[in-house]
Amino acid sequence: MCGIVAYTGNEEASTYLLNGLGRLEYRGYDSAGIALMHDHSFNVIKRRGKVSELKEACAALCPYGTCGIGHTRWATHGKPSEKNAHPHVSAHGSIALVHNGIIENYGELKDELAQHGISPVSQTDSELIAHLIELCYVQGEEVNATACSAPADETSGDAVNAMNPSKLVAAVHKACKKLIGSYALAVMCTHEPGTIVVTRHDSPLIVGIADDGMYAASDAIALLDKTRECVILPDKSIACLTEHQSHFYKERTHPLTQTSPQQPPHQHMQELAQTSHAPAQSNSLTQTSPEHSQSHPIHQQLQEFTPEITHITWDIAGAEKGGYPDFMLKEIHEQPRVIRDTLAGRLVDGRLVIDELDLSPEELTLIDRVYVIACGTSLHAGLVAKQLIEGWARIPCEVEAASEFRYRNALITPTTLVVAVSQSGETADTLAAIRDARVRGARVFGITNVVGSPVAREADGVIYTKANKEIAVASTKSFLGQIVSLTLLALLLAQVKGNLRQNQIHLLYKQLASTAEQVECILQDTSRIQQAAQRCYQASSALFIGRGMGCVIAREGALKLKEISYLHAEAYPAGEMKHGPIALIEDGFPVIAVATHGPIYDKVMSNIQESKARGACVIALAEQGDEEIQKYADEVIYIPPVQDCFSAITASVPLQLLAREIALLKHCDVDQPRNLAKSVTVE
Ligand code: F6R
Repeated sequence: MCGIVAYTGNEEASTYLLNGLGRLEYRGYDSAGIALMHDHSFNVIKRRGKVSELKEACAALCPYGTCGIGHTRWATHGKPSEKNAHPHVSAHGSIALVHNGIIENYGELKDELAQHGISPVSQTDSELIAHLIELCYVQGEEVNATACSAPADETSGDAVNAMNPSKLVAAVHKACKKLIGSYALAVMCTHEPGTIVVTRHDSPLIVGIADDGMYAASDAIALLDKTRECVILPDKSIACLTEHQSHFYKERTHPLTQTSPQQPPHQHMQELAQTSHAPAQSNSLTQTSPEHSQSHPIHQQLQEFTPEITHITWDIAGAEKGGYPDFMLKEIHEQPRVIRDTLAGRLVDGRLVIDELDLSPEELTLIDRVYVIACGTSLHAGLVAKQLIEGWARIPCEVEAASEFRYRNALITPTTLVVAVSQSGETADTLAAIRDARVRGARVFGITNVVGSPVAREADGVIYTKANKEIAVASTKSFLGQIVSLTLLALLLAQVKGNLRQNQIHLLYKQLASTAEQVECILQDTSRIQQAAQRCYQASSALFIGRGMGCVIAREGALKLKEISYLHAEAYPAGEMKHGPIALIEDGFPVIAVATHGPIYDKVMSNIQESKARGACVIALAEQGDEEIQKYADEVIYIPPVQDCFSAITASVPLQLLAREIALLKHCDVDQPRNLAKSVTVE
């Protein structure tokens, strides 16, 4: 939800920090700040509002230092204000930190700090961590050099050097043990000039290694113009960064407390495929790896390791607007490419191939229930998948908000496939639902846009949507990437189940591929969309209606509109209108009707007429050649004729554009709508 950056090296730090924060602004934009360390003291500058406000302040104040940290915030604890903005400095001024995540035992920590006479000046959970680290630093045991060169963990295979963790590393480690929740932290200490310690748990953090120093950021996008050599910091590990060095530490595996790595107690489908009969549902929730004993001194709990260095190949151009007025429009226009890239290489010798799933056809054949779990727009992609998986593969498919799924006792057996869909790959509820599903024995596949994200790491297999970095907060191109990926999954399941013949799959695949040209065609002329926007932007509410696939398209259209234009919008199955929502309709009330040629097109037409008869201003989304609809609609937005099963791909695009046009007419910031953030890492 928030974005953090850090730099220590031989260059002036504020330039990088401010540029990096600008690139991370999609993660949060209610306040921003930086802290630079110089001559054993911190210079902290914070501003409420966007990074541009902070840049202005820094231009006037000219802060100096070659070691610094920065933060752009999406408020969780405490309203947006300068006081609540990061970096936070500890009570005695020795620690400055930035934090992305949320600390759940906030109250408890606050009470503990009160016993030490510390009362926070902000309302944030993050400030408490700064005090806690300072306390740990002051109380901290001196790190014993000999103990730190303890032997390597032979089971891990990691190279282990004899580098002693600094006192700051030890203090951060000790303080983090007290934290419940998620965090990515970058910490400086006045007693260790030029050093930044970073760590993370369930929030992303990437370290960049460059000739001019060491970098860290929540997202590689903030590093790429400095370096492409990155370490995706493993969960709960700590990195100590100085101008020329980076040292990485992780929990030592104590032989006495060692347990097998966390593994869900599911019986693998492989075994099932061999035995061909499903065992009873496993309810065991007990098999987790316990925390390491707290009784070991800090120096015995940490060991240095050599991390894997990832060379990032994707282009920074993805983070620039490329001539478009906003990221949202740029990303909408990228959608034909996303469709093509997501499909590339999937049809081999006439057969669909998704190797990443790592399941044999025999294992796939055993799948008898699918859950798609996701949030927001990704959930709508799941609703598309339900229609296809049930329609083609004839497997029952349920779609659930991850935030609901995780709190109920869903029917999961070892032959259940859970598909977790998340653009960012770090949505807290989706991650929690994945963990829950795995513990209960399901096989979990992730569909995500972010390589190496927590969803990708925690799922059994992952399909990457090829959307590339999505910056606008409202999801557009990744939504299409998700639908295409889920469509491929549905086709694959139909293929292994033998429900579709090879020639049918081939034909469907070709039709799916042709949606790329159809989207191109939609993007060429948006004049009717602009006219439609003029008709509804002054309304206070709008209804989106449709049936079957059209209803799913309507849901996504309504979400897009409300999130970026703040115009209240609701989606309803058109046939349900007369059971309540039709009471809302009065003269000029906007009804946006999805009326593509699905199997129940005639019924949708009747529902449009019912709305029109009550004075609605009807904006219809119809297929080219449908002249009849003009009799009942005030505006018609045409799309090329499309198969019903693929209509969500094409028909969603004009609704994305409509939402954007309305938002612009209402002078809203389409890329950064209020109260939202791109990655929702809090529950
Ligand atoms: C809406 C939107 C959100 C996200 C939701 C899930 O345009 O972007 O509704 O879809 O927050 O995010 P991910 O897909 O990252 O899990």
